[in-house]
Amino acid sequence: MTNAVQPDATSSPVRVGILLSGRGSNLEALLRHARAGTFARAQFAAALSDIPTAPGLAAAARAGLPASALEPSAFPSRVAYETEIVRRFDELGIEWLCLAGYMRIVGKTLLARYPSRILNIHPSLLPAFPGLHAQQQALDHGVRVAGCTVHLVDSGMDTGPIIAQATVPVLDNDTEETLSARILVQEHKLYADGLKRITEQPWELQGRRLIFLPTTNSSSPSPKGNPIP
Ligand code: GRF
Repeated sequence: MTNAVQPDATSSPVRVGILLSGRGSNLEALLRHARAGTFARAQFAAALSDIPTAPGLAAAARAGLPASALEPSAFPSRVAYETEIVRRFDELGIEWLCLAGYMRIVGKTLLARYPSRILNIHPSLLPAFPGLHAQQQALDHGVRVAGCTVHLVDSGMDTGPIIAQATVPVLDNDTEETLSARILVQEHKLYADGLKRITEQPWELQGRRLIFLPTTNSSSPSPKGNPIP
């Protein structure tokens, strides 16, 4: 992972590809934010699913986004599968990825093509409860506060540098479903906040810490000028 990334305010918009596997509510929230003008730089350019029947893929197509499926089983290796993703996304000028319920490990081909440019959202306050069923893990542990995390993707499972987090209370009568629903409301806001900030404000990595740097005039591209506190 590179140590510093300085968004170039004068460059063209940041074209983002979305990878998903299922429901697609985070994709829909991101597209809603895009339509509402939340992003000064990020533009969604395509969605791709490893599951052809993923509802999120149909939602992307309904929203007018180029949407396609790519089944890993059709490829001899993860490298071959990811190479095809890169080929399709290169044709569309995509330079950043958002994982939105993408249920596969990201391999070295995608990590190398999009260095420090893959975002994920996870329904826990990382580093607690990585992996599957994070909300149930939180309930089983008995935590009083849960939440969600937007982070950069590295080669580990939900281990990359943290961009943004939001908390929600855990109630005594919560089930996996009720806690998940409360967290999801925050996910839909936090993902947009994180993507906006990392594509509009200079930042650098100090060890594991992702530090946002003061925005100078030349790197303040937002016409609406709404830096996230
Ligand atoms: C979300 O809870 C997200 O945090 C996790 O997978 C779920 C995807 O939901 N990574 P959706 O497909 O975006 O509705």
